Amino acid sequence: MMVKEITAAPQLSQVLDDTYPLWGEGLSRRAYGAWNRAQGLTSWGRRRLSLVGLVRDGRVVTSAKRYVFDATAEGKPLKVLGIGAVFTAEAFRGQGLAEQLLEAMCEDGRATGCDVALLFSTIGMDYYARLGFTAVARTVVTLDVPRNRLGAPATLVRAAESADLPVLAEISVQYGQDASLALSRSADLIEFGVTRRRLLAGLGPSGLRSVEFFVSEEGRKAVAYVVISRGSGGVSDVFLEECGDRDPSGARVGAMLEVLAAREPAHEDRTLKAWWPETFRPPQIKIIGQAAAPEAMMARSLTGRSPQYTQAVFWQTDVF
Ligand SMILES: CC(C)(COP(=O)(O)OP(=O)(O)OC[C@H]1O[C@@H](n2cnc3c(N)ncnc32)[C@H](O)[C@@H]1OP(=O)(O)O)[C@@H](O)C(=O)NCCC(=O)NCCS
Repeated sequence: MMVKEITAAPQLSQVLDDTYPLWGEGLSRRAYGAWNRAQGLTSWGRRRLSLVGLVRDGRVVTSAKRYVFDATAEGKPLKVLGIGAVFTAEAFRGQGLAEQLLEAMCEDGRATGCDVALLFSTIGMDYYARLGFTAVARTVVTLDVPRNRLGAPATLVRAAESADLPVLAEISVQYGQDASLALSRSADLIEFGVTRRRLLAGLGPSGLRSVEFFVSEEGRKAVAYVVISRGSGGVSDVFLEECGDRDPSGARVGAMLEVLAAREPAHEDRTLKAWWPETFRPPQIKIIGQAAAPEAMMARSLTGRSPQYTQAVFWQTDVF
């Protein structure tokens, strides 16, 4: 058996049928198919995302999503193999098939120039630790947007457009410069992340999820931005998926969050969850809690010693 890109329609729909009960996200089966197909049709997805698997007698027995990211580690470029949605059909579990697939993906990744494999585990760390993956610490903070007695600041906030993406990519680059690992967040990767969430919100039950993507502009140019999702981890969950600011402290993002919170003056709860780089601390915003991210981030070197990533820069939008 070899790692195979799954592209034939019957095999694609078989994988979707198999994985839908677990990862259907409240979508109909039809919408789940549309959501997956549409991700592959984005500009980033076409080049960087594929479904791979092991096939036995024409049936996909184990599958996974393969992402290829450009990244930097302490300023040096590297390629990251992202592994997501590892799944073995129930009748075939416990035979080492997922392990075979993961090893084959790593081997393929190494052969095609990837330096590191990265995944997010929802089944704890033991299984992947046995395969040589080590944990990358990642903390999610709870933010509060305190009420400003003077009212919300006079900051121009408008919906983001495609034309903003290159500027947002420039802003995003600054957070990765000193990181031990950071994705190179090109305009089309940012678009991919936002599109994936928008599609999920749009294809899902009405009112369950929403995504907002705003920029603040000065001199007709975006200088800060926020992507906020609601309902992704439960109806009341508000997640600041990513943000960026020309101001290194993040003061403009702080002002944007104040403006956005002021839209609902009667709303008591002004908290959001977020992953943020250590350097990013808008003065208006209070951190009122922190906890390990629910999905365990794990990495394995494909070229040498196991990596130790202490300052990984990884926005929630890019969790796969
Ligand atoms: C996890 C999964 C991919 C493993 O596939 P597999 O082909 O059976 O894997 P292997 O034969 O290589 O390894 C089996 C081992 O996986 C581990 N494993 C399976 N499910 C697990 C879980 N929910 N939590 C922790 N470990 C688990 C066990 O150690 C198991 O060993 P055991 O059979 O002796 O108990 C499969 O159980 C599956 O598809 N689960 C549902 C999807 C999922 O949760 N994917 C992981 C997303 S991070």
